Amino acid sequence: KKGDPENMLEALSGLPTQCQDAMQRARAVNISFAADFKNILVTGLGGSAIGGDFLRVYGYRKCTLPILVNRDYNLPSFVNEQTLVLAVSYSGNTEETLSAYEEAKLKKAPIVALTSGGQLAERAKKDGIPLILIPSGLQPRAATGYLFLPLLVVLEKLSLLSDIAAEIEETIAGLADLSKAISAQVPTENNPAKQLALRFYNKIPVIWGVAGTTETVAMRWKGQINENSKALAYFNVLPELNHNEIVGTEVPEKFLRELEVVFLRTEDDHPRVQKRFDITKEIIGERVGGISEVWGDGKNPLARMFALTYLGDCTSAYLALLYGIDPSPVKLITLLKNKLA
Ligand code: F6R
Repeated sequence: KKGDPENMLEALSGLPTQCQDAMQRARAVNISFAADFKNILVTGLGGSAIGGDFLRVYGYRKCTLPILVNRDYNLPSFVNEQTLVLAVSYSGNTEETLSAYEEAKLKKAPIVALTSGGQLAERAKKDGIPLILIPSGLQPRAATGYLFLPLLVVLEKLSLLSDIAAEIEETIAGLADLSKAISAQVPTENNPAKQLALRFYNKIPVIWGVAGTTETVAMRWKGQINENSKALAYFNVLPELNHNEIVGTEVPEKFLRELEVVFLRTEDDHPRVQKRFDITKEIIGERVGGISEVWGDGKNPLARMFALTYLGDCTSAYLALLYGIDPSPVKLITLLKNKLA
């Protein structure tokens, strides 16, 4: 029933089935443009923008066009009729996204809208813009399958990505396997998500990922801990953090004792970055409250990225349960939106 702490856990752990449904919905929509695309822009906020970030990282390997994510009212000035604009808002009522949508129309950019309804759906229907409709009733952060996979399908339909079907199938199968290992029924001693939640409990999680592989995942873990566990968390990425943040650990040790550092690693990380992880751990390991690493397993880079994402999602819900709170409501976001209205 809505409002139960388990409700969010259930929604988050439904990711494998959600991905299947998202693929079907997106594949059913007719999308074609005459444009000769030069770049791709995903515009959205919060839980609706993160799918764009996953796409951007995925695109490093697979897409020859630059992919940018815009979290603003305005669009960058390069946007024109050769920019594919993907306007994403779970609710369809986010004012920044609606404003960016209108600007994309003025700039005659080809647009695809991805939403569960609201103003964005209304406007897309009225404007004759391809619309991918996803089910309503979820929290946007529990709708990542719906907010990411359709973007891949759009790019595939427009021949901006190719040969993605097998990778997606393996990813969904990997998530289904993982769901058995981290479900609520599996006790803590065998459940990596519950173990991570315990590590984070009463600490400040610091999530370190890697540029080009797990950077979005690290940001996602931070956001999920913020929104679901109602706790502060921080993230950064290698190699960049080796050039600044590491020096910050020279503060008096009492400040570091509250930190629980987790490295997000995959075999896709650059060999020099693998080495950087090991050396960073050696340098700061003794001083911080806790330090550990989690490896993303899977048959391909997308599967590995999503395995880690799924693990972080469930961890954040278990952490909320440890704190005895309901992960679903985001009171302060609602308060802020109401004050702005
Ligand atoms: C995540 C969340 C927010 C929203 C953001 C934008 O669960 O609630 O981050 O995603 O406020 O709203 P939408 O996604 O409806 O455009």
